Amino acid sequence: MATSVSTQDPFKYTTIAHSGHHYCSPLSSETAASLLAALQLQAGALVLDAGCGKAALLRDLLASQPVRGVGVDINPAFLAEAANAWTASNPGDGRLTLIASQLEQHPLPAGGYDAILCVGSTHALGGFEPSLALYRQWLKPGGMLLVGEGYWKRPPSNEYLMTLGATEDELSSHAKNIARALAQGFKLRLAMASSDEEWDWYEHMYCQAVMQYAASHPQDPDAPAFRDRARRWHDSYLAAGCSTLGFGFYLLEKS
Ligand SMILES: C[S@@+](CC[C@H](N)C(=O)[O-])C[C@H]1O[C@@H](n2cnc3c(N)ncnc32)[C@H](O)[C@@H]1O
Repeated sequence: MATSVSTQDPFKYTTIAHSGHHYCSPLSSETAASLLAALQLQAGALVLDAGCGKAALLRDLLASQPVRGVGVDINPAFLAEAANAWTASNPGDGRLTLIASQLEQHPLPAGGYDAILCVGSTHALGGFEPSLALYRQWLKPGGMLLVGEGYWKRPPSNEYLMTLGATEDELSSHAKNIARALAQGFKLRLAMASSDEEWDWYEHMYCQAVMQYAASHPQDPDAPAFRDRARRWHDSYLAAGCSTLGFGFYLLEKS
């Protein structure tokens, strides 16, 4: 049966699909803690979370280190969740600023950032290389960039690319991501990749959230299309995604 989408809210599907996630990326709390510890920031450092989603990584950083954070995103529902979660666990703590804005247009701090987190959000600035180039400008000398970016574990099939709505040249390999960062003048401090378990959990939570929403909102005209979309996506993940698409974390220092 053909299904159609009636919603006018461009963020509705992704907000539902990520409703059960802490990070909107294939990232476990254990890996996140290792990556944040490796940042080694000074007290009072100013950190941007670019395309922050619910700003979970930034909130975890602020909870573990005496730094200040700015989260920028265009999804108001994610930002509202971030603000509520921060206020609930840190009443009166003004170290987190959340900005609803296109990333490129957000007000930059006069002295630049000490660190930038950009996990799964380089598309906001036109891709991996344009993002790295701009982040070099936004960082102070010696500043740290933690970027999470997809990569091909093996060449993608045309069928899988069609499901993703992507072209092969949009991503490269894990090693080439590192080479591209070095070519822009960054020093590599750490490289990691999401594990199969982190991917499985991310995709399971994504699909399950949409299925539960569709089942509990039978009156929503979007529900059938959302359910079909999530099912197709998860089938594609199991058939090809899990063996084709990787996700790397690159901790880079601006030299
Ligand atoms: C895959 S999610 C990652 C969110 C977060 N970094 C995390 O890992 O939990 C990508 C985020 O980028 C945001 N985004 C996309 N385009 C953007 C833009 N032009 N400016 C700011 N944020 C953007 C989306 O709204 C979404 O929250």
